[in-house]
Amino acid sequence: MTEGRTRGFPGKALAAVDRLMPQWAKEVVPKSLRGRVGSRMAEGARALPSYARLAALMSRYRVDRLVGTDPATFEARIREFLDMDDAAMEGFRDPERQRAFSVRFRWGHDHDFGSFALPGMMGDRHLTMLATFRDRLGALPFSLEGKRMLDIGCWTGGASLVLAAMGAEVVAVDEVRKYIEALGYLQQAFGIEGLHPQTRSLYECRGEGFDDAFDIVLFAGVLYHVTDPVLALRIVFDCLKNGGTCLVETAAVRSRRSVMKYEGPSEDVAAARAGDVASGWNWFLPSALALARMMRDVGFADVRAEAAPGSRVYAVGRRAGHVDMLRAGLSARDVR
Ligand SMILES: C[S@@+](CC[C@H](N)C(=O)[O-])C[C@H]1O[C@@H](n2cnc3c(N)ncnc32)[C@H](O)[C@@H]1O
Repeated sequence: MTEGRTRGFPGKALAAVDRLMPQWAKEVVPKSLRGRVGSRMAEGARALPSYARLAALMSRYRVDRLVGTDPATFEARIREFLDMDDAAMEGFRDPERQRAFSVRFRWGHDHDFGSFALPGMMGDRHLTMLATFRDRLGALPFSLEGKRMLDIGCWTGGASLVLAAMGAEVVAVDEVRKYIEALGYLQQAFGIEGLHPQTRSLYECRGEGFDDAFDIVLFAGVLYHVTDPVLALRIVFDCLKNGGTCLVETAAVRSRRSVMKYEGPSEDVAAARAGDVASGWNWFLPSALALARMMRDVGFADVRAEAAPGSRVYAVGRRAGHVDMLRAGLSARDVR
């Protein structure tokens, strides 16, 4: 299969996107956001038409909308999560060899609860990212009524909350138990019937309740954290119903070629030992073209990918129907 014959994502178009790197990539990051994980991705996306609409949905999650508790109890419980430092809870034997955010609780996405507000490590990425999938890739309808969605690697669930407010039934998974506990608490406190947080690795999103189960899978900010990106994408494929769509967002390397960069955890582990913040490590970072090719190789059709600010890539693919993939060397032989 050559790039030229592949529908939706010809190599030349990628090169053009890369070269022209849109205006929204060049805007200045507000000082207040500098240094936060999600800051560079937010450039320009706040100006997208859907951003304000999506931001307005977050007002459903303010203390005046609590159903299960009172504001003082709610705030006290939320503050108990902050700075929680618990390696045992996550099952780690050697916390120094683990990702700092997995050991020590960090709030994920900005959240104004009305009587108090929490800045998130990802800033307002839950809004900029969803606005980007809506407005730049045309891949996310505003009404998600009747849609089943899977949010893989949800952290404290900023995007899951927005998607639930858009009407979707959302299964939100993360491998870090404490983040799912926090999101579970929000779900109860706000009585969000369509939100189902689960402590679960991406690799465990298989079998009953996952296979062929979702209209849309959001797989954002996770691909570069996993040891097996090809298997990960195939699991995403298997989770979708026929006709379903995956929304992939990832850190990437800027290259017009189809390359994967191996980073690995050693630098972050060294930083942790030296007492610095080890923000989390990357295993493999794809170029946009490599991501598009991996998506096609695991079965996706109509793959489109677009380079974004801060060396990120957004990609969309559709599961037209079940197709087998090359089995040689596949790390899990039981993928469907
Ligand atoms: C960079 S954050 C992205 C958060 C959110 N999806 C977003 O895009 O703003 C990565 C999240 O993925 C989770 N994660 C990493 N590897 C995972 C895996 N194999 N299975 C499930 N969650 C994972 C991390 O715990 C973290 O919460």
